[in-house]
Amino acid sequence: MDSSSLKTKLDQQDKLIESLEKEFQILSEQRDKLKPSEELAKLLTENQKLKYRIDILKRSVQEELAKQRSNPTTTQAMSSPTPTPSRQLTFKYVPPVQERNKYSLSITDTLYSLFDKAIQVEYSNIPEAAVVITGSKVADYQCNSAMAICQALKSKGEKVNPSQVAQKIVNSLEVNDLIEKTEVSGPGFINIYLSKKFAQTELQKLVLSGAQAPFVGETKRAIVDFSSPNIAKEMHVGHLRSTIIGESISRLLEYFGYDVLRLNHLGDWGTQFGMLIAHLKDKFPNYTQEVPPIGDLQTFYKESKKRFDEDEAFKTRAYECVVKLQKYDPEIIQGWKLICDVSRKEFNYIYKELDIKLEERGESYYQKLMDEVIVEFEKEGLVKVEDGRKLVFPPNVSIPLTVVKSDGGYTYDTSDLAAIKNRLLTEKAEIALYVIDAGQSVHMQGIFSAARLIGWLKPEHRVEHVEFGVVLGEDKKKFKTRSGDTVRLRDLLDEGLTRALAKLKEKERDKVLSEEELIAAQKAIAYGCVKYADLSHNRTSEYIFSFDKMLEDKGNTAVYMLYAYTRIRSIARNAGVTSEQLKEFVKSNQIVLDDAKEWKLAKNILRFPEVYLKALNDLLLHSICDYMYDLATVFTEFYDSCYCIEKDKQTGEIKSVNMSRLVLCESTASVLAQCFYLLGLRTIEKM
Ligand code: ARG
Repeated sequence: MDSSSLKTKLDQQDKLIESLEKEFQILSEQRDKLKPSEELAKLLTENQKLKYRIDILKRSVQEELAKQRSNPTTTQAMSSPTPTPSRQLTFKYVPPVQERNKYSLSITDTLYSLFDKAIQVEYSNIPEAAVVITGSKVADYQCNSAMAICQALKSKGEKVNPSQVAQKIVNSLEVNDLIEKTEVSGPGFINIYLSKKFAQTELQKLVLSGAQAPFVGETKRAIVDFSSPNIAKEMHVGHLRSTIIGESISRLLEYFGYDVLRLNHLGDWGTQFGMLIAHLKDKFPNYTQEVPPIGDLQTFYKESKKRFDEDEAFKTRAYECVVKLQKYDPEIIQGWKLICDVSRKEFNYIYKELDIKLEERGESYYQKLMDEVIVEFEKEGLVKVEDGRKLVFPPNVSIPLTVVKSDGGYTYDTSDLAAIKNRLLTEKAEIALYVIDAGQSVHMQGIFSAARLIGWLKPEHRVEHVEFGVVLGEDKKKFKTRSGDTVRLRDLLDEGLTRALAKLKEKERDKVLSEEELIAAQKAIAYGCVKYADLSHNRTSEYIFSFDKMLEDKGNTAVYMLYAYTRIRSIARNAGVTSEQLKEFVKSNQIVLDDAKEWKLAKNILRFPEVYLKALNDLLLHSICDYMYDLATVFTEFYDSCYCIEKDKQTGEIKSVNMSRLVLCESTASVLAQCFYLLGLRTIEKM
C-alpha cells in the first residue's frame, strides 16, 4: 500500500474514532440523566460495545503506523482482497484451432490476442506496450496502442511518430480470417474492419449450434452463495436482490461450463432459535406428537421476542435452548426442524415462482466444522482472548472476527469461516462467490483475510464478495410498505402479477391469447420485469423499485424486450419457415451481408461472446441488458429498411421470402433468448 492511500485510510479511521467518541459521550451524558431502568441497561451495553470498537480501532491505527515505520514502501494491497483478473487471462479466450466449432469467438478478445502478438514482435522490450482495443465510430474496432508506445520510445530518446509505430504494428499482424483490412489514421489509431467471410462463418455456427459459449480454458467447480435469508424472519427485498443476481451469475458460470454449486446459506442457527423454541414449548407442549399450527411465523416470532425482552426467566430459558440446540438435544432439534419447515415453505414458494435453483446449506450445516476451525486457529496461535471472547485479527481489516462469544456460542463470523474452509478445501471450489449486500463488506473482507492468513485461500482461487446496493422505494428511502413495515416478498410478487395482467388486458391481449398463453405471458412479464429492473442497473449502486417504471413498454425494460423478442420470433413463423429449414438453408447458402443494415446487424449479433466474457470477468450483468437493448434497436433499423417477406398488397398473400434475412432474424432471436436465459427470464412465443 502506498503512503497516500495509507494516509487516507488513517484519516478515515481517525474520523471514525472521533465520531464514535462523540457518540460515546452523548450516550454517557444520556446515561447520567437517566434513572436506572431498562433503557439504561440498553445504553450501557451499547456503551460497552462502542468502547470496545474504539479500542480496536485505536489499536489497528497503532499497528498500521508501526508497520509503516518499519516498512515504508510496502505495496501489499489492503482493502482489495480479490485481485482483479488481469488482462493476461484474455489469451485463454481464443480456442485451439481444431476446437473452433465448439465455441463462439469473442471478437474483441481475438483482436486483443492478434494485436498483442504483433506488438510483441516489434516492441517486446517496452513495458508500456499494452494492447488497447475499443469500439470505433468510423471503423468496426480500433487499436489505440501506438501512442503510449511512441511516448515510451521518445523518453528513451528514439525519434518516431505514432503513425510509424502504428504502421509497424499493422505490418506485424499475422495472417488471420477475422480482419478484412486495417488503416492507420489520425495520431496513430489503427482502424480495424471485420471480414464478412468471418461473420458468415460465425453466423452459420450460430444457426446450426445455437449461441455457444466462448472458450475460457479448463473450468472447475464454482460455488455461488446467494439468497440466504434467515429462518423465522421475513425474506426481504435485499434477499430478493441476492436471489436474482445469484441465480443469474450461476447460469452464466454454467453456460461457460463450470460445475456450479448454488448454496443457500440460510440463517438457521442463530440465537433467535432459543426464544422461538422456548415459546414453542410453552404454547404447544404437545409439539413432539402433533404438528402445531404456526402458519404465521412472523406473529409467532414477534410474540416470542416480546417475552424475551420482558421476562427474565423466559430469557434464561431461551439461552438454555440455544446451548441445547448446538449440542443437538433431540427434542430441541425437533422443535428447530419444525420452525425451519414453516419458513422453508415460504422460501420455496418464492424460488419456485421465480425459477430459482438452490441447495440449502444453512449455518447449522457447519456446527461440527466450527469446533474444528476454532481448534485450528488456536493451534496456529491466531486467537486472542479479550473479555471472555475469542477473537481473530485478520491482517489489513479494521474489525476483528469474534469466533467464540463470551457465553461460548458461535457467531456469524464462525460459521462463515467454517463455510469458506469447506468450500475451498472440501468442495475444492476454484471460484467462490458471495452475493450479499454491500453493507456486509467488512465482514466478508475479514473472512477472506483470515482464510488467507491460515492458508486455505490461495492466489489461484477466485473468491469474491459480489456486493450490491440497497433497494429504495420511490420516495428514495428504504423500501417499505405505506405503514412502514418490511414488504413481504409474496405480496410483492402478487402485486406484480396483478399489474402485469392489467397491462395485458389494457392491450386487449386477453382477446387473442388462449387462457394458458395469457397466464404464461402474465408470469413472464411480472417476474421478468422485477428481475430485469434489478439486473439492468449496475449492481453496485442502489436502485429504486418502481412497478410503474419496470412495466413501461418503452425503453430498456423487460416488457419492451419481451415484445421485441416475440415480434422477431414471429417473423419466420408468419412466413411459414421453420428453424429446420433455416438450418438447411445455411448449410448450402452464404448469408448475404451486402446491405449496410444487414452488415451492421450481423456485427451486433456477433458481439454476444465478448459481452458474456466481460460479464464473467466483472460479474456486472447490466452490460448484458444494455447489449440486448442495443441489439433490439439495431434490429429495428434493419427490419425497417430491409424487407424479409414480400406480401401481395391486395390479397396479403406471401409472394416471396428472403431466407438470408430470416436467418438474421432468427439469429437475433436466438442470441436474445440466450440473454434472457442468462438473466433468469422466461421467454414466450406469443404475448
Ligand atoms: N443470512 C444473511 C443475511 O440475511 C446472509 C448470508 C450470506 N451468506 C454468507 N455466507 N454470509 O444477512
